[in-house]
Amino acid sequence: MGITVEFQSGAVEYPGLAALVQAIYDSLLVDLKLASLRPHDPVVVYDTPYPWQLLGSGNYAAVFAHPDYPQQVVKVYAPGRPGWQQEVEVYRRLGDHPAFSACFYAAPHFLVLKRLCGVTLYDCLLQGLSIPEPVILDIDNALAFARQRGLFPHDVHGRNVMMWQGQGLVVDISDFLNPEPCHAWDDVKRGYYWLYRPLLLGHSMRIPALVLDQVRALYRCYRACKKLLPGNF
Ligand SMILES: Nc1ncnc2c1ncn2[C@@H]1O[C@H](COP(=O)(O)OP(=O)(O)OP(=O)(O)O)[C@@H](O)[C@H]1O
Ligand SMILES: [Mg+2]
Repeated sequence: MGITVEFQSGAVEYPGLAALVQAIYDSLLVDLKLASLRPHDPVVVYDTPYPWQLLGSGNYAAVFAHPDYPQQVVKVYAPGRPGWQQEVEVYRRLGDHPAFSACFYAAPHFLVLKRLCGVTLYDCLLQGLSIPEPVILDIDNALAFARQRGLFPHDVHGRNVMMWQGQGLVVDISDFLNPEPCHAWDDVKRGYYWLYRPLLLGHSMRIPALVLDQVRALYRCYRACKKLLPGNF
């Protein structure tokens, strides 16, 4: 079973935590079927035990909510995917900030996190929701806060940031211990100022998932090629 890491961010322990952890062991983990089929594609969830709801999945983990605990989510890492301990450490170093989640509890291979209400910027494009500039600026400020805390904003792409009532949120900070330079957020901003703001903002145009997935694949190719070129110009 390993070592259970238990802590409260900002010393806020909420009364239902023990019951939620029990429910995770009793009803979520026993029947949950999820797998990471390819490292660059989101984890596939085959079966979500009732009454849990799947909120989203990334390349490492899937995130679930329980109707009796609306303020929390449970992030479960797929078998074979590393990183839950590093994510705990990132939350420990980060402390409190309104643009980030917080970690209430963690054990192998899941974390109980504060639920962030919002729509990822990726989903905003799918749904044709306008993304105003303050959302981008909020995220910039939140990342500056993380840097002040000795963290390295990493892998900040459209599925890892959210919009809620005109504010920007950062939903996934799991890779913020990684000191390697990462251009993901700068590239999102470039896309926002060069393409999105002049062409799409205010038009409520829905971008099909197929197009977004192709952009994602092209972007990965572009970044891989750039790495290979001399001087990384
Ligand atoms: N605290 C939260 N509150 C609400 N929804 C969340 C929360 N954390 C994650 N989610 C949802 O779950 C999805 C997957 O979570 P997350 O990005 O943390 O997974 P990951 O596997 O670490 O992602 P990545 O592939 O970027 O490393 C997010 O895109 C978001 O939709
Ligand atoms: Mg993610």
